[in-house]
Amino acid sequence: MLTRRSFVPLMFAAPTLLRAQAAVNRVVIDPLRVRASLDRRIWGSFLEHLGRAIYGGIYDPGSALADASGFRKDVAAEVRGMGVPIIRYPGGNFVSGYNWLDGVGPRDKRPTVLDRAWNSIETNQFGTNEFVTWSKSVGAEPLIGTNFGTAAPEMSAALVEYCNVPGGTKWSNLRREHGYAQPHAIKMWCLGNEMDGTWQIGHMPAREYGRKAVDAARQMRAVDPSVQLIACGSSGPGQPTFLEWDREVLEECYSQVDGISLHRYYGNDTAGETGGNSLKYLAMNLAMEEQIDQVAAVCEYVRKRTGSNKRLWLSFDEWNVWYRRRGGNGQRQQAPHLLEEEYNLEDALLVGGLVNALLRRSDKVRVACLAQLVNVIAPIVTNANGLLRQSIYYPYSWALESARGQALDALVESAAIEGIPAIDGAVTFDPATGQYCVLLLNRDLMQPREATLVFRDNAPTRTLRFDTLTGADLKAVNTFADPGKVKPASLESPGPSGRIVVRLPARSYSRLLLQAARA
Ligand code: AHR
Repeated sequence: MLTRRSFVPLMFAAPTLLRAQAAVNRVVIDPLRVRASLDRRIWGSFLEHLGRAIYGGIYDPGSALADASGFRKDVAAEVRGMGVPIIRYPGGNFVSGYNWLDGVGPRDKRPTVLDRAWNSIETNQFGTNEFVTWSKSVGAEPLIGTNFGTAAPEMSAALVEYCNVPGGTKWSNLRREHGYAQPHAIKMWCLGNEMDGTWQIGHMPAREYGRKAVDAARQMRAVDPSVQLIACGSSGPGQPTFLEWDREVLEECYSQVDGISLHRYYGNDTAGETGGNSLKYLAMNLAMEEQIDQVAAVCEYVRKRTGSNKRLWLSFDEWNVWYRRRGGNGQRQQAPHLLEEEYNLEDALLVGGLVNALLRRSDKVRVACLAQLVNVIAPIVTNANGLLRQSIYYPYSWALESARGQALDALVESAAIEGIPAIDGAVTFDPATGQYCVLLLNRDLMQPREATLVFRDNAPTRTLRFDTLTGADLKAVNTFADPGKVKPASLESPGPSGRIVVRLPARSYSRLLLQAARA
């Protein structure tokens, strides 16, 4: 209901230019108000040695769908087509017990080991070189995590040497012996994973981690001064040490790192934060913005206190919906079915909202990874005969395809429902093509809402496409038997002008692509 008396409680406090008390829904777009030039790596993803992400996901040598290297052709084609810019690997929790040496060299000499993070059998038939080869084939940059759990900093530096030094040293010569004459030139590295978590192999106190990060960073940069290093931030706002961890870690290692990581998984559990309330669930993207602001504030605090001129950026390198398939015990099986979350329409709508949140905070977040990419809490699922696009595939692929160029600081005014803004929006403008992309979430579960897009300059001259993800059943899921339950539909294109009125279906996430008069 549109009402001037609606209010927004503090937990959903809106960012500066997002107002929820309005009587009409309005998105004011001024192309001169640029929030950030988008780093494409904000649309990254993640592949861990976990369940069927690698084995049976991207690598399946026994499959009729595999190429000569054992890579699934259908999966590689899909990921290439999506244009995923960067992929984090090999973990996740897995990396904290991983010896990268087990995964390189002749395959018949690689040991089969027990992965203690997921109680699974790891054959090591896929390792760093296979990942780099596969990533290049799909057009993605590798973001490599190193072991801060069981391994010494020396092994992080050895991996940088193995990957990035052309030759003439112990570890670079080993890579050459393994058949890779050219260095992999890997720029981005995560210094461990979720080391604040009691579940993490080698979990340690913040200051200890911070000192280890300094040691590893110095050694890694001694090998290759061009590397970009990401420190482990808190693994989520629910952690008892949230922000305290980040502050203490950064007080130790601020000068040695370039970014800090954030993680968060969202859910609509009846026993959880939302109590199963779908409206509250669809507002959880506002909590993502809050988390980003809080961690960014800690970075600024430490920057000032340490007198540094350098500004860190944020790497939101694990984000997604994940609350159903939480069990992580692989029962000592190889490639067990773990964390195979089935995503429904409301999950996809929230993922759309999270895309909007990342755009609105793209001045702070340089890298972000949808966790994960294939089979494990993933937009793509495989079986022996092919692959399935889950509901969350669509908002993610829209971001990859259309949210380009600059994130604009659009003013979004919206009516509120139970204190929550009905309309959530984000806008990009690509100076290379002169295209606007307007992404709109309608959180109203009952009725369509109109929104007026007001262009302050460079108004659109053509509507290129207007599509939406919606449906009658918020809990509908795609299956191999019925893969089209949740998929986008085209809406009637509104005529281009300086004021465009769009009608957004109830329970929907929509993408409007517009061609501007000028690039
Ligand atoms: O993505 C699944 C797991 O979630 C990762 O291994 C870990 O980093 C996080 O807790």
